[in-house]
Amino acid sequence: MIIRVATAADAQYADLLCQWYVESAKTRGTGIAKREPDYVARKMASGDSIIAFVDGELAGFCYIEIFDDKTFVVNSGLIVNAEIRKGGVGKAIKQAVFDLSRSKYPQAKIFGITTSLAVMKINTDLGYEPVTFSELTTSEDFWKGCKSCKNYAILMENERKMCLCTGMLYDTPEKQLVQLQVPDFNVTTSSF
Ligand SMILES: CC(C)(COP(=O)(O)OP(=O)(O)OC[C@H]1O[C@@H](n2cnc3c(N)ncnc32)[C@H](O)[C@@H]1OP(=O)(O)O)[C@@H](O)C(=O)NCCC(=O)NCCS
Repeated sequence: MIIRVATAADAQYADLLCQWYVESAKTRGTGIAKREPDYVARKMASGDSIIAFVDGELAGFCYIEIFDDKTFVVNSGLIVNAEIRKGGVGKAIKQAVFDLSRSKYPQAKIFGITTSLAVMKINTDLGYEPVTFSELTTSEDFWKGCKSCKNYAILMENERKMCLCTGMLYDTPEKQLVQLQVPDFNVTTSSF
């Protein structure tokens, strides 16, 4: 398997990837998070995506999206060729896009929302934790991506605080350490 940062030359695969997105949404019965080949090609050209090949054939893809002036990033559009799923390709791509995100945007929180058990398992292994949507970006650009989901009405009824997806967040280790510091309760010890 070859896994690498995609480049502008990989634009030749954008159409096929978009077909896979449509097929996957049909199979899963979710709405289509609409992705145009042009958008995918731009992600490739900007160095913000990972592409995988098995035996010389396109095997999968995932890209980075940035929100709130790099406060949050999402590893989005994870897809593996349906014929080679459950063989570890998805996990390997997600690890690579996670590493790319950490090196390009070291201060950013990395998050996702998903109904996919496979993605939940992969994210958990990477150190993501489940969170309520209150911990995620408030960027309209992110949430408008839900408009094509069949559960969008549920999201809006709940004022974007919850829906059928699980929110998952990876915070930087430095910030996690700060959060773990025990507050000073001004404890006094009594002598016996
Ligand atoms: C989700 C997807 C990318 C996973 O890719 P994959 O190559 O099949 O995943 P892997 O083989 O690396 O499996 C990763 C983990 O998920 C588990 N898994 C994979 N498919 C699963 C499934 N359908 N149900 C439950 N668990 C699954 C694996 O057992 C593995 O768990 P482990 O680490 O405990 O062994 C792939 O199924 C896909 O392209 N689906 C369609 C698009 C999609 O749903 N994208 C995610 C949108 S949020």
